[in-house]
Amino acid sequence: MEKEKQLIDVAAIRADFPILATRVNGKPLVYFDNGATSQKPQLVIDAIVNYYSHTNSNIHRGVHHLSQLATDAYEVARGKVRDFISAKSSSEIIFTKGTTEGINLVTQTWGRNYLKPGDEVVVTAMEHHANIVPWQMVCEQTGAILKVIPMDSNGELILEEAQKIISSRTRMLAMMHVSNALGTINPVEQIMEMARNVGALILLDGAQAVPHFKVDVQALDCDFYVFSAHKMFGPTGVGILYGKERILAEIPPYQGGGDMIKTVTFEKTTYNESPFKFEAGTPNIEGGIALGAAIDYMNALNHDAVIDYENSLLHYGTQALKAVEGVRIIGEAAHKVPVISFNINGIHPYDVGFILDKQGIAVRTGHHCAQPVMDFFKVPGTIRASFAFYNTTQEIDSMIDAIHLAKKMLK
Ligand SMILES: Cc1ncc(COP(=O)(O)O)c(C=O)c1O
Repeated sequence: MEKEKQLIDVAAIRADFPILATRVNGKPLVYFDNGATSQKPQLVIDAIVNYYSHTNSNIHRGVHHLSQLATDAYEVARGKVRDFISAKSSSEIIFTKGTTEGINLVTQTWGRNYLKPGDEVVVTAMEHHANIVPWQMVCEQTGAILKVIPMDSNGELILEEAQKIISSRTRMLAMMHVSNALGTINPVEQIMEMARNVGALILLDGAQAVPHFKVDVQALDCDFYVFSAHKMFGPTGVGILYGKERILAEIPPYQGGGDMIKTVTFEKTTYNESPFKFEAGTPNIEGGIALGAAIDYMNALNHDAVIDYENSLLHYGTQALKAVEGVRIIGEAAHKVPVISFNINGIHPYDVGFILDKQGIAVRTGHHCAQPVMDFFKVPGTIRASFAFYNTTQEIDSMIDAIHLAKKMLK
């Protein structure tokens, strides 16, 4: 079997991630659960330790030295995020708890205030629950209707159906850029054009896109873009909502509290400008700063080499799994990130996951917060191996050996 070309120095990269040296059940850890959360390089860990060792203070409110240091570091991180996704202005970059909160912010500010009975919100058949349930909730609150673009058996969206579903009643197209359950990179440009032609707004869920390829929100011309730091080598508890400046200026705040106000009296409160208007209360300061460090880490890598290397892992893993009798790969889109969902004939995914864990191999089993996808493929769940640039073909070989073992033990 063809091994991957060493286009990046994987050994050096692995040395940056201390957790990768861990042993699990006496075996070297093989971490293939990057779709759920990625591991963190030392640079990110150090950013958190340094923050608490030298900078800790509340931001935006103090004139004292530490408060100014913390504020500067937090705002520098916001600038790094702006550049990372090529946004026009830092005022378009809102710190959130993660992708889920970003979507809930849009549904409960824009959605709650602008959707009317009979308006339609269009999502896709492969969405994560985070991009289904908040829309269902706001549809219930406003009388709007949720419509779904179907997919085919490869896990690709059906564009002719999208064209039929997106209509003059569509107010919002909210879709995932990349599928967490299937790995599909969606043809967002084509579907967004359909939405733009009918004057709908567009939200892209980029949680699984930003860890793998460069995203340019101005080139995409989406209205909102959401993602989580923890899936892109940053910390948990922090994420980003990008919104176009014009739209953020129009929509009301999300939560009320400190930082989001200009003036408060008991009679009337006036609101701060974006992004602060949407950032009530003390935020995850060290998380924002550490997200900035994760961006520094990613920027220092050769993007094209990372993409080539990850593609080689995807190809190698797919071929190796296909060679195992009884394996069914779920999601065979032409364009994928290195995520492989699969099942083994006659064996429950959890049982396979359990035996892989005994061999030190971390995969995710279950519905991956995408129950409609599991229903579509008529499976209770899948085994999902999701790779990052620090994974290797040797690790894939270990997984294949462990799968053979699981088959022997469970049949
Ligand atoms: C595509 C997608 N959207 C949304 C989410 C939710 O992200 P978070 O839990 O970080 O808010 C995930 C997490 O798995 C995801 O993969």
